[in-house]
Amino acid sequence: MSYDLIVIGSGPGGYVGAIRAAQLGMKVAVVEKDKTLGGTCLNVGCIPSKALLSSSEEYEKTSHHLSTHGITVKGVSMDIPKMLKRKDAIVSKMSKGIEFLFRKNKITWLKGHGKFAGRNDVGILVAVDGDESETVVAKNVIVATGSNARHLPGLKVDNKIVCDNEGALAFESVPQKLGVIGAGVIGLELGSVWRRLGAEVTILEALPTFLGACDDAVSKEAFKLFTGQGLHIHFGVKIGEIKTSAKGAKIAYTDSDGKAQTLDCDRLIVSIGRVPNTQNLQLDQVGLAVDERGFIPVDGYCRTSQPGIYAVGDVVRGPMLAHKGEDEGVMVAELIAGQHPHIDYDCIPWVIYTSPEIAWVGRTEQQLVAEGRKYKSGQFPFAANGRALGMDSPDGFVKVLADEETEQILGVHIIGMAASDMIAEAAVAMEFKASAEDIGRICHPHPSLSEAMREASLAIYKRALNM
Ligand code: NAI
Repeated sequence: MSYDLIVIGSGPGGYVGAIRAAQLGMKVAVVEKDKTLGGTCLNVGCIPSKALLSSSEEYEKTSHHLSTHGITVKGVSMDIPKMLKRKDAIVSKMSKGIEFLFRKNKITWLKGHGKFAGRNDVGILVAVDGDESETVVAKNVIVATGSNARHLPGLKVDNKIVCDNEGALAFESVPQKLGVIGAGVIGLELGSVWRRLGAEVTILEALPTFLGACDDAVSKEAFKLFTGQGLHIHFGVKIGEIKTSAKGAKIAYTDSDGKAQTLDCDRLIVSIGRVPNTQNLQLDQVGLAVDERGFIPVDGYCRTSQPGIYAVGDVVRGPMLAHKGEDEGVMVAELIAGQHPHIDYDCIPWVIYTSPEIAWVGRTEQQLVAEGRKYKSGQFPFAANGRALGMDSPDGFVKVLADEETEQILGVHIIGMAASDMIAEAAVAMEFKASAEDIGRICHPHPSLSEAMREASLAIYKRALNM
């Protein structure tokens, strides 16, 4: 069978790229080996973790925070199997949604493991190893095979006692003591879920600093809030021997003062980053090779060195974020169709779904200092925002950084409730090269959290109205 485009992998980068290509009139197939479509993000990542975040937030709110509203609740309990069932139902609904979208767009799902098998006169050959193995050909191929959790050498992840993102989404009961290695995005998000449900959570982080990619003001605030909520976070640790049994894990580590310590826990989450899934693709069959970290080298348009072959999402440079992969998938589909798409990688928002959430787009203050760029900064706290107070969410702030001369917005950093939604305004503003004054002059609804964005922009000119 021959296609205009074959996409290997059905995660956000792959399935969205496939749909865009089909919209543009291409005959498209997607190779996916898993039983369900959607990749890590939908099956064992973003979507199920957000379902658990919500469940655990509702539980914590009902247990501890409703009394300020005058609501008395007694006998709150948590049914973990039911919570997991709800999460699984959301995943299943979304995955079936992609199957529907494939049918609607006449996209063929080739079930099996896809790998390159050379070229012929028609195009690029892709072998699909599944129940019915076959070799198909396409004029273009997008590699969108995503990433897998990085594991610690010598430590087996059984997803029962020692877990990565997958196992940590499916504990059948709340562990009494939960250990987490790595205070990154997954460690903080899932550590927070199980803390809210009652676990005592200890996070061991190798680096001496907290959330180094965030603006320093946000990291400081986040550390204060998260430790205040009860997360125990130890920095500058060196992990030693880890012993596991059917009951739990014992982690030997050296703390930042060089002292030997141990952490006993019932479950352990290892969240120390992810590695691209680029093994077993037979890249050499089409003259491709990975770089020293396993990524497929591409240019700014996700083109590999080989004509007709592209790679998007977690297998290429840049942040491992679902929406970055999606945009790359769309860009490649449009490029193949002869259009002139473009991604401004400086305008890709980041979100950490803790409570409160953290979101940012553009440069941090420390990056601007390092670059020697002259800038102005404005900050506005949610504690002075009426809507945030009404929602009992006064924590955090919005910080806007703008060029000193042109006042163009260079970065926006939010820690606070609904930061994931609020950051979209900042991304739009930055894509349109808005100045802080533009945001300050645009009418924002009152009362709303979004007013904090306007006020932070006005604060650059020392003109915040409610501070
Ligand atoms: P991460 O890169 O966010 O954090 C890993 C942390 O582990 C770092 O702080 C690192 O210093 C630490 N670490 C590494 N080796 C260590 C060791 N041996 N001992 C102790 N600490 C060690 O990685 P994470 O949390 O595993 O997430 C993986 C990827 O998934 C990230 O790239 C992230 O962007 C993506 N993701 C994004 C989400 C979102 O957008 N909200 C949600 C979940 C994941």
